[in-house]
Amino acid sequence: MTAAGTLEVVPPVLDVRGLTARYGHVEALKGVDLTAGRGELVAVLGPNGAGKSTLLRAIMGLIPNQGEVRFLDKSLPRRDPAGAANKGVVLVPEGRGIFGPMTVLENLELGAFAIGRDKAEMERRLNRVFELFPRVKERLKQVAGSMSGGEQQMVAVGRAMMSDPKVLLLDEPSLGLAPRVTGEILDTLGALSASGLPVVLVEQKAPLALKLACRAYLLSLGRIVATINPREVKSHDELAQYYFA
Ligand SMILES: Nc1ncnc2c1ncn2[C@@H]1O[C@H](COP(=O)(O)OP(=O)(O)OP(=O)(O)O)[C@@H](O)[C@H]1O
Ligand SMILES: [Mg+2]
Repeated sequence: MTAAGTLEVVPPVLDVRGLTARYGHVEALKGVDLTAGRGELVAVLGPNGAGKSTLLRAIMGLIPNQGEVRFLDKSLPRRDPAGAANKGVVLVPEGRGIFGPMTVLENLELGAFAIGRDKAEMERRLNRVFELFPRVKERLKQVAGSMSGGEQQMVAVGRAMMSDPKVLLLDEPSLGLAPRVTGEILDTLGALSASGLPVVLVEQKAPLALKLACRAYLLSLGRIVATINPREVKSHDELAQYYFA
């Protein structure tokens, strides 16, 4: 809120307009609008099959899609995931996508491949990840696939941070994790967004996401059916209507 009591409008870093996507004849995303600005963590909530993962894949350009994705006031090409990532739009996918047979350090370094042999920059980025996830620093030589689910998720977020993202998209980072480590990871995402990085968090655990988010989009059958101010949600029963609609 501003001093005048009006809602502050944060200019979007990521501005998704009328995004649609289909798998064959099935339209899985039916014209989605979403924004995330500096310092904002926005949540995308919704039941299984709502289209949450499809939305993130379409933003990245990983699947055929139509509509517009504006990033820092320019349109992103609609089928160029590597180009989007190089510009700073970075996805931590469902299932984490880390390389199990490689060490933690190798996984992290892969995230920063674009900087080439700049050792000082590599060091700076690694130290930033260690600050976010001190546990990762203790396990650098461990084969990533032998880590616990929570630790692997930390490596996945860490690897994304190694690329110095300008907006971070996460697909259910808490999936299958115990509450304590989930809390640790979500708190870190909250801290990242508070430091300025726009974060789009897809999450099934609505109460956890609503604690962190400045705004939540409820997705159902490929459409945003409500945009929620978490401070105005009185009870989680209120959300249930969208899950069972
Ligand atoms: N590769 C695919 N081929 C065909 N249909 C797909 C494919 N991937 C997803 N779908 C369909 O698109 C719809 C949206 O799926 P999506 O995975 O985006 O949902 P979600 O909200 O991420 O669900 P969950 O919470 O289970 O991860 C579903 O009806 C799903 O069956
Ligand atoms: Mg999904």
